[in-house]
Amino acid sequence: MTFTSGAELADPLAELLGDNAIDAAIAVAHPNIALVKYWGKRDESYLLPVTGSLSMTLDIYPTTTAVRVSAEPADTVELNGRPAVGEAYTRVARFLDLVRERAGRDEHAVVVSSNAGPTGAGLASSASGFAALAVAAAAAYGLDADARALSRLARRGSGSACRSLFGGFAVWHAGEGDGEAGDVSSYAEPIDGDALDPALVVAVVDDEAKAISSREAMRRTCDTSPFYLPWADASRIDLDEMRKAVARRDLPAVGEIAERNALGMHASMLLARPSVRYLSPRSVALLDRVLALRANGIAAFATMDAGPNVKVLCARADEQRVIAALREGGDVADIQLAHLGPGAALVTDGPR
Ligand code: ADP
Ligand code: DP6
Repeated sequence: MTFTSGAELADPLAELLGDNAIDAAIAVAHPNIALVKYWGKRDESYLLPVTGSLSMTLDIYPTTTAVRVSAEPADTVELNGRPAVGEAYTRVARFLDLVRERAGRDEHAVVVSSNAGPTGAGLASSASGFAALAVAAAAAYGLDADARALSRLARRGSGSACRSLFGGFAVWHAGEGDGEAGDVSSYAEPIDGDALDPALVVAVVDDEAKAISSREAMRRTCDTSPFYLPWADASRIDLDEMRKAVARRDLPAVGEIAERNALGMHASMLLARPSVRYLSPRSVALLDRVLALRANGIAAFATMDAGPNVKVLCARADEQRVIAALREGGDVADIQLAHLGPGAALVTDGPR
């Protein structure tokens, strides 16, 4: 698979906007990887989480999204060069309904979006996708929204997207209450952690879309796993400890908390009925390599999302040794090196 960078995509998307760039905008957003995970909703319609989470935004795999308000009778959505259909289309069209409602407008839109990274493979395409869509659609419809309002808006498309509004490290506050009350209090904001400046080595074992979406797996875990509530309780403590570890730039502590939080999330979904298992034998082999790195004195820690791919957090000084160790097994399709990346922005804007 070849990936295209956001910069290369900007030109064809700009063509789509045509000469008349009024009511049209292009935005770029990057995925974020949670070091304390969001897993479980307390309100499905407002996408309100059970627990808060903390992430780092990456500098790889950008999503570029163009939105043009149009006189067509329905929204049209193109994703990765093909018309979006089914759930992928509906999620975008429902999201645009929210934007239209807030903007007091009713015209439909043409949306063209491309992910530079794999889609639906546990590499956070829904996060970069809905963060880019939130920024581009808000601008195209002339919505007056500050960063917090955009974060809340992006959350309605995909929970994790609220964190991709911001560069570096971000915390998503769970907020309080359900419905409208929960909606105003549940947003992400950046936290100071840039000095930590870690590397995240992304070991891609499979870039195909997963069989069970994060949304379905999360719902099933919440509804049926006896390990869900213990994980959620532990995750609240992890978030407190993680914030302190980031503030004191303690990479080994950040990594240790991230790894246990991710393993707990996967344990909770293993006990869902029916069980959800995203990790494959290749993922487990990579986890063994991370253990071996640590046994050799390298502070490297793994985190995994809703897919088999493994991301390894380490100091920049160790990144090449980590890459070499993960390659050694020979069972990895691709390795990408990521660092802290920028927040979502219009292509004419600076990053947030
Ligand atoms: P991932 O691990 O890649 O985030 P998810 O199952 O959480 O996988 O989300 C994948 C879904 O997110 C896609 O099926 C699609 O509905 C949506 N999505 C992905 N990229 C975009 C995008 N650029 N624009 C709009 N929606 C997107
Ligand atoms: C494992 O944000 O994709 O990546 O809100 O239903 O769209 P929805 O789910 P989504 O779930 C992300 C789950 C995760 C953990 C995380 O990013 O915090």
